[in-house]
Amino acid sequence: MRICSVVGARPQFVKAAPVSERLRDAHEEVLVHTGQHYDEALSSVFFEELDIPEPAYNLGVGSGSHAGQTAEMMRGIDEVLDAETPDVVLVYGDTNSTLAAALVAAKREPTLAHVEAGLRSDNWAMPEEVNRVLTDHCSDLCFAPAENAVDNLAAEGIREGVVVTGDVMYDAVLAVRERALDRSTILSELAVAPDEFVLATVHRAANTDDPRQLAAIIEGLAAVPEQVVVPVHPRTEAALREHGLRERAATELTLIDPVGYLDFLRLLEAASRVATDSGGVQKEAFYLDTPCVTLREETEWVETVEAGWNVLVGADPERIEAALTARIDMPPKPTLYGGGDAAERTVTALEEVAAQSGFR
Ligand code: UD1
Ligand code: UDP
Repeated sequence: MRICSVVGARPQFVKAAPVSERLRDAHEEVLVHTGQHYDEALSSVFFEELDIPEPAYNLGVGSGSHAGQTAEMMRGIDEVLDAETPDVVLVYGDTNSTLAAALVAAKREPTLAHVEAGLRSDNWAMPEEVNRVLTDHCSDLCFAPAENAVDNLAAEGIREGVVVTGDVMYDAVLAVRERALDRSTILSELAVAPDEFVLATVHRAANTDDPRQLAAIIEGLAAVPEQVVVPVHPRTEAALREHGLRERAATELTLIDPVGYLDFLRLLEAASRVATDSGGVQKEAFYLDTPCVTLREETEWVETVEAGWNVLVGADPERIEAALTARIDMPPKPTLYGGGDAAERTVTALEEVAAQSGFR
């Protein structure tokens, strides 16, 4: 089987790592990096730490408007598919890189497979919701992390080619967690002790682009008595400066540059709680037993909320403070997103389709 995997943004490197490792065992993988993320701290550090091979192509698309960025990616991916003629195009998650590859592949020969299919926020104002819905609708194979995602797909009429695999990010956490504990020195670098700080990440467009919303999040985090460590996404760094909020944030919070995956897992595992608007971090918090406070009004990862390990507080200072200072009394943890064999299941599902349809 010849698979073209398309990635471009930080969470996609994490998701692709375990799948790519399995694929390389028995198949040919052509890895394409769109270049959506390009800073060392958002891109190459993940390839190094997760042992992902150098991409065969880096399209170098960089930042831009949604339309411009997506269009440029589409052009580049089209040329790669001309040159490589893969059997499968494999896409991950819900970024512009996901949608660009999906739109190109859907009108060409290869089977299009979507990892992390079926997630919904039901918030159409969110660019990621547009990306994931459209990608699911043009995919031949939808790899769902849990049953709820299957129900979401069925509600939109997508019933063929749906396979529950579990969450590939759980595979990644399991593979790297011990190494993070052994090797990361981030706690001593920041002089923070386990269970004595809160970790926070903010990068969702709705939270960064509206100054009132960003200011409200800073106010909520600043009200927490514990130290709050914030690895700042470049979008957020730019927004803090643009809205004149950086000084206030730096006074109240411990702002640091984005960290690599090992350091992030170490921080997340050691934090007393995490406040985030990230999709991936909500799940990783659950895997690492860290209570999560989600800085949004809705989540795609509803199971973590139902299990009592995640609470939605929006960008409301009082709700943020209350959730981050409430007594910690966590319920038992159910298994939500598979057993850490999602990559294996994904590759097996691809092999089964290959056996039926006869591609290499
Ligand atoms: C993208 C995804 C989002 C995902 C996030 C993961 C879309 C629409 N959004 O958001 O779903 O959760 O990645 O982190 O695909 N920038 C840099 N250096 C970089 C990359 C970006 O400085 O290496 C800055 C640029 O100013 C850029 C801004 O960050 O304009 C936003 O980058 P972009 O890739 O457009 O979206 P993200 O906010 O990163
Ligand atoms: N992450 C990281 N360093 C950071 C912040 C996040 O390694 O400073 C990792 C995190 O562990 C997770 C992924 O990046 O695997 C999540 O990416 P992000 O929050 O940017 O995107 P989302 O999941 O919201 O799409």
